[in-house]
Amino acid sequence: MIVITAPTGQIGSKVVETLIEAGEPLRLIVRDASRLSDAIRDRAEIIEGSHGETSVVERGFEGADAIFWLAPPPWKQTLKEAYLDFTGPAAAAIRRHDVKRVVSVTGLGRGTAWQDRAGPVTVSLEMDDLLMETGAAFRALAMPSFMENSARQAAVMKEKGMFFGPIRADKKLRFTATSDMAAAAARLLADGSWTGQEEAPVLGPEDLSFDDQAAIISDVTGRPVRYHQISYEQFKQQFLDRGMSESVVQGYVDMYRAKEEGMDNVAVRTPENTGSTSFRDYCELNLKPILAA
Ligand SMILES: NC(=O)c1ccc[n+]([C@@H]2O[C@H](COP(=O)([O-])OP(=O)(O)OC[C@H]3O[C@@H](n4cnc5c(N)ncnc54)[C@H](OP(=O)(O)O)[C@@H]3O)[C@@H](O)[C@H]2O)c1
Repeated sequence: MIVITAPTGQIGSKVVETLIEAGEPLRLIVRDASRLSDAIRDRAEIIEGSHGETSVVERGFEGADAIFWLAPPPWKQTLKEAYLDFTGPAAAAIRRHDVKRVVSVTGLGRGTAWQDRAGPVTVSLEMDDLLMETGAAFRALAMPSFMENSARQAAVMKEKGMFFGPIRADKKLRFTATSDMAAAAARLLADGSWTGQEEAPVLGPEDLSFDDQAAIISDVTGRPVRYHQISYEQFKQQFLDRGMSESVVQGYVDMYRAKEEGMDNVAVRTPENTGSTSFRDYCELNLKPILAA
């Protein structure tokens, strides 16, 4: 039995689709089952509740061979609450039910100079430590920034022909599409043969600056879009104004600075850890229809 947490999220939903198509037995832990399609509800066992709660993971992990673990993105809590306190009950249940394999979603940064000062990345690596202490075989799918992050600004691209961020426009960075992350997760979850505890980076096929992204978006969508760098103070204020906690906002500032200084670029790209989706492919498939609507 493979247990999927966050099955309605952008990675989890694609993991579910792939594993259902492959005929794997699935159990989904979901806060609101009505957010899943009838086809998925018919083909998977459903446990309703949050995977941050003891009673839910105690039921959810019983008899599990493998677990896909994703801590929901933080907002109003502290970073510690969002990653470590949230994952504590799961770590205890993994031990109690002697789950054999765990695959988690985390950030690139382990073993780098930025490991202890990269906000959500730092805490998600500590979350992985908690999961590894259970003794289960473990793969941390270590991600750079998601291609989807820029697409989250589709509305402002449409309205103003711009998107914004604090990182300088010409800094080349790593990006991965969530579809490639989900493919890597599904492969590991369906494979009962691996052992040990390792990081498994998932990198996109090319390094791009935000100026490069803007040029690709403009070319693919036929709508001129440019990137505008804002100060870290403006970046911070935007999130505080939207109700994000000081802990999370400061964490994002620290993480973006670490990325700008080169944290994600330390990972070495290999054929095995490189996804096939380019930013151009991503835009054709996902951003173009949104901007055309
Ligand atoms: N964005 C990046 O660049 C990046 C890079 C590296 C790592 N990450 C990591 O990726 C993860 C986020 O992945 P994502 O963007 O794919 O997530 P997402 O699409 O926003 O999905 C979040 C999922 O969490 C569920 N959820 C939200 N709050 C919950 C709660 N309190 N209890 C239980 N479930 C809850 C949501 O379910 P509902 O349907 O119930 O709302 C949804 O399934 C984070 O751990 C982040 O640190 C992100």
